[in-house]
Amino acid sequence: MNICPLLYFSDHIKIVDQRRLPSKFVYVRCNNERDVYKAIKEMKIRGAPAIGIAAAFGLWLGLRRIKTTNKAVFLKHLNSLVDFFSSCRPTAVNLFWALERIKNIVLEKKDLPIPKIKDLVYRSAIDILKDDYYRCRRMGHLGARLIKDKDCCLTICNAGGLATSGFGTVLGLFFEAKNERKKFKVIACETRPLMQGARITLWELKQNKIDATLICDSAAAYLMAQKKISKVFVGADRIALNGDVANKIGTYNLAVLANFHNIPFYVVAPLSTFDKNIKRGEDIKIEYRDEKEITSFYFKRKMAPSGVKVLNPAFDVTKNNLISAIITEVGIIRPPFIDIIWKIF
Ligand code: MRU
Repeated sequence: MNICPLLYFSDHIKIVDQRRLPSKFVYVRCNNERDVYKAIKEMKIRGAPAIGIAAAFGLWLGLRRIKTTNKAVFLKHLNSLVDFFSSCRPTAVNLFWALERIKNIVLEKKDLPIPKIKDLVYRSAIDILKDDYYRCRRMGHLGARLIKDKDCCLTICNAGGLATSGFGTVLGLFFEAKNERKKFKVIACETRPLMQGARITLWELKQNKIDATLICDSAAAYLMAQKKISKVFVGADRIALNGDVANKIGTYNLAVLANFHNIPFYVVAPLSTFDKNIKRGEDIKIEYRDEKEITSFYFKRKMAPSGVKVLNPAFDVTKNNLISAIITEVGIIRPPFIDIIWKIF
């Protein structure tokens, strides 16, 4: 079962409010660019490809409200909308990739009448959504071959349908392996502090009847030592040209642990997650989020004394030497990554 995190209509979009999962599955309406910005910022919609898709539709909603007939003014609005959405969240490159893609299409066709350009932006946003679905299906198809009967696969955060256009990167592999009738299990880290693993990944795996178990993030080492985990699969928010990977905080811990225990560590991500302007992981900007995410449990119950100092990096960087392979829609890339990635881009 695929669940698209975003539905599009002729004058608005609807997104699944992922903050309310697993208790409630609800779509919320976004009428304009500010609604979409807020939805990304507050993580109603989240996951690298999904925020790229949402920003593309946000750009369209912003442009459709512009009344000018002056092309220069219209293009100025386009630039400020691109800047506006670029400031939502800094780490996932898919956001910038989608904005850039639409901006380039508009600039290429800037001689068209403004209503036609608006329509083109709408169709480009739909293309980005559909294209991501195709990419995820391809990754699922290619990557499922890494999953064997009796495997127990560990994952973190949510790299599922809701983080993408409906099929998922990591979860796409699991869905495909299940379609192929493989007998495997999944263990999902809860993913402190916002619990994307517990709330969203487990929800998606359950919907798809995949044998899945929830653990605390800190239980991974013990379970690896007990030989209860055979492979690790993680998503990515940005991949540098040397194969270093930024992903949800805690991913680097898993990579170090997997290497120590001789367990393959795989990254699953479409080419839209590679940043051709970033040579190494150290140059990736890491988002730091609100301290309340840690000092209270899911913004409600207080979990730390008032006034404590807090550091809340939302992502970390895993060096390429800890990664066994990167599964993309064009193939499975194995080390040394740098030559192949340079060739692709
Ligand atoms: O902060 P989030 O929930 O947007 O972080 C998402 C992740 O880190 C995912 O693992 C990543 O974006 C891959 S999604 C296919």
